[in-house]
Amino acid sequence: MKFGYFDDNNKEYVITTPKTPLPWINYLGCNDFFTLLSNTCGGYTFYKDAKLLRMTRYRYNDTTPDTNGKYFYIKDGDTIWNPGWQPTKTELDSYECRHGIGYSKFTGVKNNVEAALVTFVPADNPVELTKVTLTNKGDAKKDIQLFSYVEWCLWNADDDMKNYQRNLSIGEVEVVDSTIYHKTEYRERRNHYAVYSVNAKIDGFETSRDEFRGAYNGPDKPAAVIEGKLHNTIASGWYPIASHQLNVSLEAGESKTFVFALGYIENAEDDKWEKPGVINKKKADALLAKYQTTEDFDKAFDELCKYWDNLLSKFHIKSSDEHVNRMVNIWNQYQCMVTFNMSRSASYYETGIGRGMGFRDSCQDLLGFVHLIPDRARERIIDIASTQFQDGSAYHQYQPLTKKGNSDIGSGFNDDPLWLIAGTSAYIRETGDTSILKEMVPYDNDMSVATTLMEHLKRSFDYIVNHKGPHDLPLIGRADWNDCLNLNCFSEHPGESFQCFGPSEGPVAESVFIAGMFVKYGREYAALAKLLGDTAEEARVLAEVDKMIAAIEKDGWDGEWFVRAYDAYSHKVGSKECDEGQIYIEPQGMCVMAGVGVDNGNAEKALNSVKAKLDTKYGVMILQPAYTRYHLELGEITSYPPGYKENAGIFCHNNPWISIAETCIGRGDRAFEVYKKTCPSYIEDISEIHRTEPYVYSQMVAGADAKFHGEAKNSWLTGTAAWTFTNISQYILGIYPTLEGLSVNPCTPAAFGDFNVTRVYRGVTYNIEIKNPNKVQKGVASLTVDGVEVQGNVIPFDPSKKVVNVIATMK
Ligand code: GLC
Ligand code: GLC
Repeated sequence: MKFGYFDDNNKEYVITTPKTPLPWINYLGCNDFFTLLSNTCGGYTFYKDAKLLRMTRYRYNDTTPDTNGKYFYIKDGDTIWNPGWQPTKTELDSYECRHGIGYSKFTGVKNNVEAALVTFVPADNPVELTKVTLTNKGDAKKDIQLFSYVEWCLWNADDDMKNYQRNLSIGEVEVVDSTIYHKTEYRERRNHYAVYSVNAKIDGFETSRDEFRGAYNGPDKPAAVIEGKLHNTIASGWYPIASHQLNVSLEAGESKTFVFALGYIENAEDDKWEKPGVINKKKADALLAKYQTTEDFDKAFDELCKYWDNLLSKFHIKSSDEHVNRMVNIWNQYQCMVTFNMSRSASYYETGIGRGMGFRDSCQDLLGFVHLIPDRARERIIDIASTQFQDGSAYHQYQPLTKKGNSDIGSGFNDDPLWLIAGTSAYIRETGDTSILKEMVPYDNDMSVATTLMEHLKRSFDYIVNHKGPHDLPLIGRADWNDCLNLNCFSEHPGESFQCFGPSEGPVAESVFIAGMFVKYGREYAALAKLLGDTAEEARVLAEVDKMIAAIEKDGWDGEWFVRAYDAYSHKVGSKECDEGQIYIEPQGMCVMAGVGVDNGNAEKALNSVKAKLDTKYGVMILQPAYTRYHLELGEITSYPPGYKENAGIFCHNNPWISIAETCIGRGDRAFEVYKKTCPSYIEDISEIHRTEPYVYSQMVAGADAKFHGEAKNSWLTGTAAWTFTNISQYILGIYPTLEGLSVNPCTPAAFGDFNVTRVYRGVTYNIEIKNPNKVQKGVASLTVDGVEVQGNVIPFDPSKKVVNVIATMK
């Protein structure tokens, strides 16, 4: 069942009922100012940091009710309604929400009044703009009222939701004309405030939530709206809000338009006040002056659309498969940008008050956006590397505002260092910018011990060389990619963090997954050493890689698939010897991606085992059989009920690894089958089962053992976005950036047909036509570049050209 449809021409998903299975959200904002906006106008806004600079409130533990947002109420006689249906839930005569790229549009109609909202955040200013157009669709005059509504958060979102003994006494606002200023804590250590304004003379305002709603009412029954009159209260403490009242007369057929602006203002420390107690409003006035007319709004909206069109044009495919076209050209790239902006901080499932940015998450997200914004990828790599320790290990997380490592969680996740190589290699393959390797980068933010980035990569690599266990496989530490495989933790008491409890490292527990990573990213590091002319380092690294391959073949192979790990007793994890958790997805994907077993048939065996044992119609599960009881020696993974999350859920992030691995052995049909199973557009028809947004990936889909098999959770902020884009663009469609130039080597289903890709790479536009006359799954027979046939798969890079036309014919 569907709750809407894709409108590809407008790059929108059109939601046709407010009653979606879960709130379906969108993200507005590209730089510092962000809004989460659901299909019923729920959501919240923050500046730079969702925890420390939260502008409007979110209600916690409220995902499905979704009862707080930026609302517009319309009072038409005795009927009170909202164009996005919430919070009054008055049944509408018609409803539509269009989530677009960086904006959302809502149209609600009730009793012949149409209210159309367009909301977005301009690329270059810290402000959210909403254009509200009210139209009288009937043939008699209408006198109606429009009320806006936002509830301020007192900045620190964490403190705001729990420290009432203080917070209910500190709320402060000012009101001048049509602008409401939220200035809580501005009198002391803050130099920022928020504004909410409308470009018209108002008929009243309210800044006290209790006055607006009336005692014991929720936002669904606001007393002042029912009364039809705001009371012009200046809030003092309690719950400050902002609401404007506009009395609107509409002749038959007439429309009136208002522009609302919600902005963030920062003043210099010595320029905070206009006079004692009165905030300096110069910057706010200047910001609001930019958006005073509908034309101003429309112009800024056009600029935003151009900004996105330009970004998304960097990779464009035309094929006969509308799902692939839509996901690649629009939604998958869009989700990659959102994950870049948010990391794992703020969604309807990530609370925005929890973890900072993950070291491994950020490095992997980069794989998906580096072609879109290479300059920002460069900066991100330096930021991440600056939190590394001198021995090559890394803080697991860091705070975006300070860019410092987070010592609460510390280090000891032994896959982390290798992801830095993955991200840096992707950046250089994309841009050719080797100067980054010579940048001086601190350790743990201490510039006095800085070395080149290349030296950081060496230490990443050597960290693994120096931390091996009894089978010459890498020690796992607190966990590897699978945060819940905690082999040194042994936690027996509720509340202990599986990630932080116990010794960070044991001398025994080893990870075959990290071994696979070491082979893959070790080779990428070796290639960088070679590029810098350091052939001695290249040879040293490749020798270490060979040793690791030997270790995997000796003790990391279980007969039909790769072993997952060795626990602290040196017992196998993910082996046929185990009673539960016999096969795991991660080492099958990573080892084959690294090329291990491709020559001796083990890769094929491992992937056949994945298909036989882990596959479901909704995707490939992380492990089987699910753990039915808590295993002290395995940690959090066994804490989840069977079928959920890391305990046999379909963890979407690693499904593309299997798909990529299939392309490594040339099985395009199967690679694409795996791609399709979790691909949002392909499963739009089962939205009532899947439940999360049909235009983006979710972190997890419940596995076969779960009660709600097929149900997704944690949409939007997941490494799935980057890895799927990597998979489809670089491996299935086969346009892979190498250090020398773009390589063309597709691995598609036999029946996929011919296709065209436009790819902007290092400033050159490549028009690549791929022909598959004999319906093969892999292999390029000939490559013609601007009419000249070249040997191999790589298009020689020539910066003097602006446009290059390529024809690749498959075998
Ligand atoms: C979450 C984490 C990621 C981890 C994965 C598997 O997605 O953000 O870092 O690799 O879970 O545990
Ligand atoms: C990852 C995992 C999750 C685990 C968490 C711990 O996000 O997906 O299951 O609880 O890490 O930080």
